Amino acid sequence: MSALLDWLGNWPGAVLLQRSGTAYLFVNAAHILGIGLLLGAILPLDLRLAGVLRASALPLIGPVLIRTAACGFVLALTTGLWLFTVKPGEYLGNTAFLIKLGLLALALGNIALQHRGLKPALAGGGIGLKVRLLAALSAALWLCVLVAGRWIGFL
Ligand code: HEM
Repeated sequence: MSALLDWLGNWPGAVLLQRSGTAYLFVNAAHILGIGLLLGAILPLDLRLAGVLRASALPLIGPVLIRTAACGFVLALTTGLWLFTVKPGEYLGNTAFLIKLGLLALALGNIALQHRGLKPALAGGGIGLKVRLLAALSAALWLCVLVAGRWIGFL
């Protein structure tokens, strides 16, 4: 394990961020952009599915919000892994980081469950209780990932 962490902490991308505050700044900003796109798209969609927002055009906005959230997730994931390699051993000893990864796994599992029942709702059909509950859970989980991510820097 320590050999793997050593390798991760010495790949050229990690060395670049360890030596250049400017490079770190841009990757961290890209991580925040990914988070912004992800939560900026997934929260309105979840609130609409949960029945909190009443906007009618779900078949119109749904696919756009899902694609935006997916792009945000890919950006947050790639930049997050890159940031992780700056000090992998330290992050694995950081409780907030471990909690964040756990919440991230739960949030992704919830997306897999939600997508199984989402098609009728996106086609303009009714929104069942299960979809509403999973949407409310999704909003709560992603907000927790956000807070856990910010908490990392405080530990
Ligand atoms: C995909 C959903 C994700 C969300 C919503 C998220 C959220 C956050 C937030 C809010 C921060 C604080 C940003 C700042 O104040 O500079 C952060 C930082 C960070 N995230 Fe993520 N993140 C995500 C994915 C990941 C992944 C997959 C990893 C790595 C496996 C990761 C690793 C990190 C690291 C290393 C930091 C810097 C912590 C520090 O030193 O302050 N993130 N994340």
